[in-house]
Amino acid sequence: MQTLTVGLEDRSYPIHIGTGLLANAELLEAHLPRKRVAIVTNTTVAPLYLERLKLTLQQIGVQSVEVILPDGEAYKTAETLNLIYDALLAHRCERSTPLIALGGGVIGDMTGFAAACYLRGVPFIQIPTTLLSQVDSSVGGKTGINHPLGKNMIGAFYQPQLVLADIETLNTLPDKELSAGLAEVIKYGLIRDLSFLVWLEQNMDKLLARDTDALQYAVLRSCQNKADVVAADERESGERALLNLGHTFGHAIESGMGYGNWLHGEGVAAGTIMAADLSQRLGWISEQDVARIRTLFIRAHLPVTAPDLGVEKYLDYMGLDKKVEGGKLRFVLLRQLGQAELVNDVPSELLLQTLQACVSSDEVRNRHD
Ligand code: NAD
Ligand code: GLY
Repeated sequence: MQTLTVGLEDRSYPIHIGTGLLANAELLEAHLPRKRVAIVTNTTVAPLYLERLKLTLQQIGVQSVEVILPDGEAYKTAETLNLIYDALLAHRCERSTPLIALGGGVIGDMTGFAAACYLRGVPFIQIPTTLLSQVDSSVGGKTGINHPLGKNMIGAFYQPQLVLADIETLNTLPDKELSAGLAEVIKYGLIRDLSFLVWLEQNMDKLLARDTDALQYAVLRSCQNKADVVAADERESGERALLNLGHTFGHAIESGMGYGNWLHGEGVAAGTIMAADLSQRLGWISEQDVARIRTLFIRAHLPVTAPDLGVEKYLDYMGLDKKVEGGKLRFVLLRQLGQAELVNDVPSELLLQTLQACVSSDEVRNRHD
């Protein structure tokens, strides 16, 4: 097991990364002063890991309330959030009762938001079970739900007290979900860690074959990058925004295609290609750099062409239509491989070129067939 710390003074917390952690009662015990927790999970993860976690908790005399939600991005809503509150109230959970999120990013984001709001704040533990949630969403305290008008639009910054990333849980993850997580892993290499990008190019086959050591290293290095950024800029007033490489386009894809039709990581992959294309149009990175990024995403079995939603719809979902008219945009772009920058004044004609060059109507048809 390896341990990192997210350094946020009195709200600092450990991220433990390793195998067999779901069965390690000691790691949890230190964070559970009272003998009751509420585990929030979903209908897919519960049959796989809920009993194991409950048994571990029982070893240290902790009883669990279970909240089992429907599975999917389409359920990351206010209605589903209310199901968590219903269960917590029905079981008379108190301010000292921690919530444990057992699942992927959807469960983690919703549980964290419920923890921030229930009784004005209860302790919160992340046990991420997808690659994406282990390398990104469980760390850093962004929590929330979607709104029909925009993704992750309602939420709170609320840090967990502990993150337990058990690499063994990745063995049951569908291939497509593993690839979706790789999109966020590649992101760290592109925005701030060129030697990690090179490592990913050398080890992509091992990662796809679920080599435990390779996965553990990728999770560790990703979490180290994320922890450094969060410690420097918890509330996204600067550097943290760089973690959103590809996300402006990606969120538009996810929202525009209907939540759940494109996985978050798939949207980030196609969105990152759009950001790379725009960076090249600005003269920042070369055609060879863009080709290198495309090759890595293709090797990770991720989409590199975005759905053709139409320029207007992209602009609407990106919330940029008025700013486009004013000529003032805000994008995370690549100054070079391994170095991202926040840009406020992308010429709108270049953005329009990217929105036309990187899309295909096949991507819309394929997902709706
Ligand atoms: P997800 O939570 O929907 O999980 C993907 C699928 O895998 C689901 O069907 C889930 O039930 C299933 N699953 C989970 N663990 C499994 C396991 N071990 N074995 C088999 N199946 C398993 O999706 P995700 O990719 O984990 O997370 C995406 C969400 O995370 C999005 O809502 C995105 O907005 C959010 N996100 C948040 C942050 C943040 O900083 N808070 C960062 C990135 C993404
Ligand atoms: N996933 C982006 C962030 O945590 O800031």
